Amino acid sequence: MKLVVKDLTYFYLDGDEMRYIFKDLNALFEDSTFYTIIGESGSGKTTLLSLLGALDKPKSGDVLLDDTSIYQDMDKYRQRSIGFVFQNYNLIPYLNALENIELALDIAKVKKPKSEIIKLLESVGIDGSKTKRPIVKLSGGEVQRIALARAIASDPPIILADEPTGNLDSDTSDKIVNLFKQLAHDHQKCIIVVTHNKHIAKISDVIYEVDPRAKDLKQIAVEDLVL
Ligand SMILES: Nc1ncnc2c1ncn2[C@@H]1O[C@H](COP(=O)(O)OP(=O)(O)OP(=O)(O)O)[C@@H](O)[C@H]1O
Ligand SMILES: [Mg+2]
Repeated sequence: MKLVVKDLTYFYLDGDEMRYIFKDLNALFEDSTFYTIIGESGSGKTTLLSLLGALDKPKSGDVLLDDTSIYQDMDKYRQRSIGFVFQNYNLIPYLNALENIELALDIAKVKKPKSEIIKLLESVGIDGSKTKRPIVKLSGGEVQRIALARAIASDPPIILADEPTGNLDSDTSDKIVNLFKQLAHDHQKCIIVVTHNKHIAKISDVIYEVDPRAKDLKQIAVEDLVL
């Protein structure tokens, strides 16, 4: 699987003025690889994830999944190819973890037995009564892990995550990062994680940094990462 970003340009309108976030951005994302995207706050990381996830369209340029534009049928692409972990989770607060995942699978038209969902939740450290408690009665870190379980439940080839370890202590964060690595290396997933945490970037296979001056993405070597 190859996700090719070709001359992608994006701007927000600020009154009449076009505020460019990306100009002719080119990048490549492949399966079996754990990518991190770093960059200062406001540099465009969330914007880029929403373009890669076809939640929004570029002003010009394209993103091709195995030679087909992801913007041709955005709904189908999102449903079949993408698992999202948003900065604000987007879980249904009055449903419990199990129900949230069942609902997401329903929407994706994927059938999975309850026992497998429970196993999946266990893999992110949610077990016992926590799977049956409404989301509002769980901690921030627990909710974050459920959002991750939901993203991977329908087994999409690409997982997009925006600061997925922001609310986690370092032990739990390590576990989640290891899970990302495992998904990439043992399950051939393409994992794209936006993070401020350079230790996570260091563990990933490929590090991209948003360059706000060039309005582009540049790959940086682990050795060049300033911790
Ligand atoms: N809907 C919008 N309309 C206008 N400007 C926006 C909109 N959404 C984001 N922006 C601006 O675009 C820039 C990039 O935003 P984005 O959310 O992609 O940054 P980010 O790198 O994810 O930042 P952070 O690390 O703080 O999450 C910011 O300056 C932001 O204020
Ligand atoms: Mg952001």
